[in-house]
Amino acid sequence: MKILVLNGPNINMLGIREPGIYGKQSFQDLLFLLKDTATELGVEFEQYQSNHEGDLVDKIQSAFGNADGIVINPAAYTHTSIAILDALKSVGIPAVEVHISDVDARESFRQISYAGLACEKAIKGQGIDGYRQAMEYLVFKYKK
Ligand code: DQA
Repeated sequence: MKILVLNGPNINMLGIREPGIYGKQSFQDLLFLLKDTATELGVEFEQYQSNHEGDLVDKIQSAFGNADGIVINPAAYTHTSIAILDALKSVGIPAVEVHISDVDARESFRQISYAGLACEKAIKGQGIDGYRQAMEYLVFKYKK
């Protein structure tokens, strides 16, 4: 089983950006967590981060036939991008949405998720551990 983990704009700034909201753990800490989780679960994974909407769309399209699950934190594009929603629907790969912060308890514009309409599940406000929970969900549900 292979899981694609996708991160949108500014997620590479973890640990630096608004630590009171996103925590002190760095993007590198997140990459270590993904690697450890994949090893524990016995799956392959690929991580891709981009600050550009079209790059994320391209990566979702390239997952068709190559990945069995997608974990996605579209970051700010969560709340604006119909293109990412359509890409997720196009490939039809089981997907889980992750948000490090509890978006439901923040500004009203963060409470709309387009990408979430194509995801089976949303994990919010669990810090970077949310990515581990999302990978576990996909593995327990879809690993053969
Ligand atoms: C985020 C929440 C978004 O509203 C925000 O734009 C982000 C990160 C999160 O992980 O909590 O960049 O997706």
